[in-house]
Amino acid sequence: MPPLKLTVNARAVAVDVPADMPLLWVLRDVLDLKGSKFGCGIGECGACTVHVKGQPMRSCSVPASAVAGMEITTIEGLSLDGSHPLQKAWTKLDVPQCGYCQAGQIMTAAALLAAKPKPTDGDVDAAMAGNLCRCCTYLRIREAVHEAAGQTPAKK
Ligand code: FES
Ligand code: FES
Repeated sequence: MPPLKLTVNARAVAVDVPADMPLLWVLRDVLDLKGSKFGCGIGECGACTVHVKGQPMRSCSVPASAVAGMEITTIEGLSLDGSHPLQKAWTKLDVPQCGYCQAGQIMTAAALLAAKPKPTDGDVDAAMAGNLCRCCTYLRIREAVHEAAGQTPAKK
């Protein structure tokens, strides 16, 4: 099989992997991008969330071959230097506890803000519902999304 051509964080790469290898494995084990995490492996927790064509996607549950040629962005590509408004808000509000889920949380939140720059609490809760956090940082996540959106927490 010829190498698989992917575009990851605006960089064209060719990887020699089985066509059914999940994107998460390619990102972490082949491209050494360890920000996206393996949580459940079955699309249930959101720890592996990346963007594919700007949309949040569970990279554990999509074969890399299915996203060949599409624009893939991981947490490492969200900004060059950690200066995305969400990354700054996450730092300011000290959101993470153990941190394991947080790359996925931020990638889902980034897609939300791109689609809806001033989300309500309900918007945030709906968008983030599929991203689980064993440390229960949900309230700080919601606050940080609003902080990044440049607004005080909105009512439901
Ligand atoms: S590791 Fe992909 S959704 Fe849990
Ligand atoms: S910060 Fe620990 S799982 Fe979310």
